[in-house]
Amino acid sequence: MPQIQPDRRTFTKIIAVAASAVVLGGRETLFARAATAKNRVVHLENLNIQLITQGWGKPHRDQSVGGNGINIGGRKFKRGIGTHVESVFYIRLHGAAEHFSSWVGMDEEAANNGACTAQFSVISAAGKVLAESPVMRAGEKPYHLQVSLRGVKDIILVVQSVAGGINWGHVDWADPIITLRPGATEMPVAAVYRASMEVPTIASGDPETPEIHGPRVAGCTPGKPFLFQIPATGQGELTFTAENLPAGLHMDQHGLITGKVAHAGEHMVKIAVKNHLGHFTRTLKIIAGEHKLARTPQMGWNSWNAYGMNNSAARTKAAADAMVRTGLAAKGFQYINIDDGWQNGRDANGQIKTTAKFGNMKDIIDHVHSRGLRFGLYSSPGPTTCGGHTGSYHHVRQDAQTYAAWGVDFLKYDWCSYGNVATGKGREKYVKPYAEMGQALIKTDRDIFFSLCQYGMDHVWKWGGEAPVFGNSWRICGDINDSWGAVVNNGFNADAYVSPHRHIPISHYAKPGNWNDPDILVVGVGSFETGGPHPTNLTPNEQLSHITLWCMAAAPLLIGCNLDKLDKFTTDLLTNTEVLAVDQDELGRQAMPVLKKVWTQVWARPLYDGTYAVALFNLGFTPTPVTVKWSDLAPVMEHGHALTGRQPIRDLWKRKDLGAATEYTAVVPVHGAVMLKVGKPAGDEQ
Ligand code: GLA
Repeated sequence: MPQIQPDRRTFTKIIAVAASAVVLGGRETLFARAATAKNRVVHLENLNIQLITQGWGKPHRDQSVGGNGINIGGRKFKRGIGTHVESVFYIRLHGAAEHFSSWVGMDEEAANNGACTAQFSVISAAGKVLAESPVMRAGEKPYHLQVSLRGVKDIILVVQSVAGGINWGHVDWADPIITLRPGATEMPVAAVYRASMEVPTIASGDPETPEIHGPRVAGCTPGKPFLFQIPATGQGELTFTAENLPAGLHMDQHGLITGKVAHAGEHMVKIAVKNHLGHFTRTLKIIAGEHKLARTPQMGWNSWNAYGMNNSAARTKAAADAMVRTGLAAKGFQYINIDDGWQNGRDANGQIKTTAKFGNMKDIIDHVHSRGLRFGLYSSPGPTTCGGHTGSYHHVRQDAQTYAAWGVDFLKYDWCSYGNVATGKGREKYVKPYAEMGQALIKTDRDIFFSLCQYGMDHVWKWGGEAPVFGNSWRICGDINDSWGAVVNNGFNADAYVSPHRHIPISHYAKPGNWNDPDILVVGVGSFETGGPHPTNLTPNEQLSHITLWCMAAAPLLIGCNLDKLDKFTTDLLTNTEVLAVDQDELGRQAMPVLKKVWTQVWARPLYDGTYAVALFNLGFTPTPVTVKWSDLAPVMEHGHALTGRQPIRDLWKRKDLGAATEYTAVVPVHGAVMLKVGKPAGDEQ
């Protein structure tokens, strides 16, 4: 059983990162007196441990992250801190400390659950590793980690997952102690860790000559309505033409393709856009048939991270308007999705009703469609949604019909309260509610993208895309928030997800039609599960890594912020066409880590044009050189496209050619990324 329980709301809120730099808790202050007066021992569980950031759950004093007594490999401890990988605890020492020691290990509560393995490190503020544990496995005896702190200004206590993935990374610092210098007058205090706020230089804006963006392939079911706006940029008025559109479709001069494809089959449509400065052509493949949706991962906006339960009709319509106005739609962002909070009981016929804030749903949807965008809704198979609104329980077919009648194009279906009414054994229990809705959607007269949200239970990637569910994407993890720990947990660690019975990386389950979903984006100004609206707590480099990794991972790109408050950096992050093209690549191969060191990683994936996308990441606490040789890409090399010798390299974030070489090295900033395209492209664009 994964650690995410049916009623996850209480479980998945990852600890909020307080905005203030240093916060003293009550016990900490009391303890300060005791320590200076009588002894020199500071028990770290008495500091303000709420300032720890971690990948899941909350840090607990004297308890494991799961709320049990601290127990490492059968040895029980009365004192300590229970936390979860990726855990970062920053402590200011004020030059007062002499020595650090702690027992460390995986908590026993993770032992039977296919937990990941973890490594504990003590790092200086300058990023130097002062001490580290061996790789710790669940069930193993605790390791005693200790190090001299003489001359050390601040320390960062870090626990990272080494292998094994996202869940059950329950780790403990047991009896963690700092011994003070004799006569020390200042106390160590917990503080918020913030990597450098330096803003990476990335390309901005678009050429004035016309260009077409977005997916090169779109799928649909014959006889169901089709809506696809060709995303394009260029100065002034753009005029579009299309040759070889399948029977039943037509395109207006603004590039909006509508109609219903008459017959199954593949159609190579030559689309062109021109302005007064030139023209641009590309082939768009339209695939019509059964189960052909989601040829590339969904791109759009979701209300949850932006507004939580405070979304409304006005905010949704404004998001659609902003999507077009800000130029995001012209880059391929297409869906406007209402998340939780719109349902309001049922009428006498069982028809779902909306709250006053949303009113007439069809009116909202018509507005979204009138902007050339698609529309998504949210529900649960349970009696209630996670936010306590009416779910689809006992009304699955009726709701699917209602959605279709309203014009819905996308459904996020969230397990939530279903755990209380679930029946069936083993996998059947998990498949059942999703199969029921999947079948109900297929029977409507619309193409409705089916987005599963059940946090990865029962290895959803193995069955979510298959009959009888036919899901198009599935969440692989709990809720993200805007902390580095959450990005690492949902993003970097996902590929190492291991169950006792499998060794196939999760990335192998992604393919056109079926995508792994590490959750909504956490850039811009949103509420991000951590309170009211605020700018993301990720540093600029962390934001760059987040978008890089999601694009490498062929992840859904659902923006989760207020689109009226996009600043320049956020806009540049979300609109870099060369980076987005990696996410939307038609081969649909999710990247894998090809080189993994303790603090640095290289991920790679093959692209449709014979080139490779390669990303260099630094998860550590000091700028670090990262090198990739083309031979390192062997695990993702495609037959017939081996990269050898000197190859052209392009920096995608800077949109700059870097010349040709046999390898590449970059000094990657703390929690930053470099994203490259390597090889000679064989594309068809002119
Ligand atoms: C769950 C999901 C979130 C969001 C909320 C709404 O927590 O994982 O993405 O949909 O429910 O309540």
